[in-house]
Amino acid sequence: MSPFSGFSKLNLEQRIAYIVQNSHLNSSDAHRFDDYRAPDENQQRVYSEMIENYIGNFPLPMGVVTNMVINDETFIVPFVTEESSVIAAASKAAKFWAERGGFKATIPEMVKKGQVHFTWNGKQQLIKELFPLIREKLFEATQALTEKMRQRDGGITAIHLIDKTNELPDYYQVDVSFQTADAMGANFINTCLEKISSELQDIGELNSEDCRVEIIMAILSNYTPECLVRCWLECPVEKLDGWNKELSYNAFASKFKQSVDIANLDISRAVTHNKGIFNGIDAVLLATGNDWRATSASAHAYASRDGKYRGLTTVRLTDKTFTYELELPMAIGTVGGITGIHPIVKNSLAILKYPDAQKLMMIAASAGLASNFAAIASLITTGIQAGHMKMHLSNILNQLSASPFESDNARSYFLDKAVSFAAVEAFIMQLRHKTT
Ligand code: MEV
Repeated sequence: MSPFSGFSKLNLEQRIAYIVQNSHLNSSDAHRFDDYRAPDENQQRVYSEMIENYIGNFPLPMGVVTNMVINDETFIVPFVTEESSVIAAASKAAKFWAERGGFKATIPEMVKKGQVHFTWNGKQQLIKELFPLIREKLFEATQALTEKMRQRDGGITAIHLIDKTNELPDYYQVDVSFQTADAMGANFINTCLEKISSELQDIGELNSEDCRVEIIMAILSNYTPECLVRCWLECPVEKLDGWNKELSYNAFASKFKQSVDIANLDISRAVTHNKGIFNGIDAVLLATGNDWRATSASAHAYASRDGKYRGLTTVRLTDKTFTYELELPMAIGTVGGITGIHPIVKNSLAILKYPDAQKLMMIAASAGLASNFAAIASLITTGIQAGHMKMHLSNILNQLSASPFESDNARSYFLDKAVSFAAVEAFIMQLRHKTT
């Protein structure tokens, strides 16, 4: 079968008709898309123009975590997530730590990078000698592009030549460092890098009959180990007594440390540990219209920066003090991207009191640490399923199309019992049987 071309040229009705004809979606279910159209036509147009081959809006629940105290300021933090227990868990940790000094956070560095990857078939020594002059030309060539960013204390801060010829024949990189103020800066960085590419091809000293620059590609790096956020929790060990009455504070602290040490030494545990951190971070990045894929990719690479994949958090435990820290790279923004056009992203930023990029990094990282703290604290005490399945009960009831009467009964019945799909189904069936 030859590939179909022209889907993007179809109008919405034609696109849906094409899908109904070529998939298992039937036309009455396809009408579900209508329920999620924005009532405001202008807003609806914004959504439909945001991506290629648009067919509808995809709803996800949004909630908030209250009591997030970060550097002594209290935030209500918006989360968008499909996982039932994520907000409950982070909220429990936020409240627990609000009574113990809250989260502390800092931004050690804010440098992002990109590279022009190219080959040059001249003498290595020559390009190295020429590079100070080339660097000046590249700064000069990007002046107009960086002007606005320089007004915001951003711009290009360094340009280096990296010789990779011992790894791939004739291969070099122009490695460029950027400061992008409150923007994530992906478009700015890529535009500058493409300008640098074309300039490299025009530099007479590098392009002659015998040797020339061949550009392979120019692109930002999503690995941002110099754009870092660090956040931590600290309290006297005895203050840890409040989480679980059955475990002494000393036992809690030492089991907590053991579980974090395990994430540090074992990849199976490390990935799950870090996933729990991203339960919070991704929820905030989604709510604020940020690129969570970039942050995840970067953080997972950072987690293996010494050659072994490890948990992203560390515990320091002395006789007196418990300190729990998370450090990860994060390149996000509060201007640009969809921040100015997505109505709910605008609401999220307002709920967060219009943070700058650095503050949003600290909020997202703290949300990650809150999620992770709650997960570990549950794992080493009650186990994760009790809380998880309690929150999941509503999903099961909805899946069984339970009436309000059935749901109320199920919620009180399962208050002190283990929740599973089979158990809830049996309970609802029994109830239906009794009432018919
Ligand atoms: C579930 O979404 C996240 C956890 O598995 C994280 C963890 O195990 O640390 C509970």
